Amino acid sequence: MERYIIKGGTHLQGEVEISGAKNAALALLAAAVMADETVTIDNLPDVSDINALIDTIAEIGAIVERVNRHCVKINGSTISSCVVNNEQVKKIRASYYLLGALLGKFSHAQVTLPGGCNIGSRPIDQHIKGFKMLGADVKIEHGMIIADAGDEGLKGNHVFFDVVTVGATINVMLSAVMAHGNTIIENAAKEPHVVDVANMLNSMGARIKGAGTDVIRITGVEKLHKSEYTVIPDQIEAGTFMFAAAATKGNILVKNVIPKHLEAITAKLLETGCYIEEYDDAIRVIGGDNLNATHVKTLPYPGYPTDMQPQMAVALTLANGTSTITEGVYENRFKYVDELTRMGADIKVEGNIAIITGVDKLTGAQVNTPDLRAGAALVIAGIMADGITIVEDIVYIRRGYERFEEKLRGLGAIIEIVDSDKEIQKFKLKVS
Ligand code: EPZ
Repeated sequence: MERYIIKGGTHLQGEVEISGAKNAALALLAAAVMADETVTIDNLPDVSDINALIDTIAEIGAIVERVNRHCVKINGSTISSCVVNNEQVKKIRASYYLLGALLGKFSHAQVTLPGGCNIGSRPIDQHIKGFKMLGADVKIEHGMIIADAGDEGLKGNHVFFDVVTVGATINVMLSAVMAHGNTIIENAAKEPHVVDVANMLNSMGARIKGAGTDVIRITGVEKLHKSEYTVIPDQIEAGTFMFAAAATKGNILVKNVIPKHLEAITAKLLETGCYIEEYDDAIRVIGGDNLNATHVKTLPYPGYPTDMQPQMAVALTLANGTSTITEGVYENRFKYVDELTRMGADIKVEGNIAIITGVDKLTGAQVNTPDLRAGAALVIAGIMADGITIVEDIVYIRRGYERFEEKLRGLGAIIEIVDSDKEIQKFKLKVS
C-alpha cells in the first residue's frame, strides 16, 4: 500500500501551477457524451476519478481519444449501452452525472448508486425528484438507479430543490438540455463548476441561462454538436496550496487560478493575518508568524467551501487562541480530527462544530486518510510538524490532486511515496 512519508519543518516557498477543476471536469465528461459529434475537453486534471470516468465512457461505447494526459476527445454517436455498472464507477460520486446525460439523450439510463468520499450521508433524493419532475419514472433496484422517460422522452418543468445541491443542479440541467420545452431550476447551486458545465453545454448548442444564480432557465434543443472546451482551474486545489502557505509560514504564488472563485478563502486567510497579493490569474499567499484564530461556517458557494474545511482546520491548529469551524453542508466531515489529535492538535468536536485551540507545535505521527480533502490536509500537517509523518491510504488523495507530492516538492517539501518498510527506513536515513 503506497503512503506518503514527510519530514516536517519546511516553510513552503515558490510557485505552483493549478490543474483543471476535478468536480467541473467530471460533469463536463458526462455532458460530452450527449453530442453525436466530437467534443474536445482540455485542461482535465490527471487524477484517478477523472480517468475512471473516461474509461467508463469508453466502455458504454463512446469513441474516446486521449490526446494527452490533460485532453480527451469524446464522440457519443456510437454509444451502445445506457447501463453504467463497472467496478471503477462504483467508487466515484460523479458517476451519477451519466444518469442525467444518458437519460437526457436516450430517455433511459441505468447507473450504479454512487460511491465517493465517506463524509456522511449523501442522499440523491433531489436528483431523483428532478428527473421525476421532468417526467421520468425512477426506481432503485439491485444497487442501480433506473430512470426511464418512455417513448415520449423528458418534458421541461419547474424544479424547486429543497436543499442547495451541486450534484442535483448539474444532473437535472444535463437531463433538461434535450427535453421538450422549458425547464426552470430554482434554488440552484451557484458553484463555478455549475457555470462551467452550462458554458460547455451552451457551446455545444444548448440554451441555458442563469447558471451562477439560483434560477437556471433551460430551453430544450433537439441535439447537441461538437465543441472544444477548456476546464476552469480547480478552486479547491488552489485553496489547498493557499492554506499550505499559511499553515507552513510560507510564501507561495498559486498560478492559473480565477481569483474571483477564491474570494471566500482569501477573506479567511486575511482574517488569520496572512498577506495576499492578487493578480489576474494568480494569488500570492504569505503566511505571517502565528495565524490569528478565526471562526468559519461552511456553506454553498459563494460561502466558504466544505471542501476547504480540513485544510483550514490544520492551519488553525497552531493559531493564537481558539477557533471554531462549523460544518454546514455535511453531517460527518470531521473524521480527520482523531488523526490530527495524534499529531498533538487540540480539537474537540461538538455536533457539527470543531473547536480548535492553538498549540505550540505538531509532532509527526502515522495517520490514516479518511477522505480526499482530509488527506491533503494531513499532508500539510505533516509538513508543519516536527519529525516524520506517514500518511496512509493516499489513494484518496490521488482521486483529486494531480501530482500532489511533486507540486509540494517543487515548493520545498520533503515528501516521498513509499510502499515498504525498507523504503521508509531509507527515507529516514536520508533525511536524518
Ligand atoms: C459535490 O458533491 C462535490 N463532488 C463535493 O466534493 C463537494 O463537497 C460538494 O459538491 C459540495 O460542494 C463532486 O462534484 C463530484 P451536493 P455533491 O449535492 O454534488 C445534500 C470533494 O472533496 N443533498 O452539493 O454530492 C447533501 O447531503 C467532494 O471533491 C441532499 O440532501 O454535493 C449535502 O448535505 C466531496 N439530497 C448537500 O446537499 C440530494 O439529492 C450538498 O451536497 C443531494 C444532496
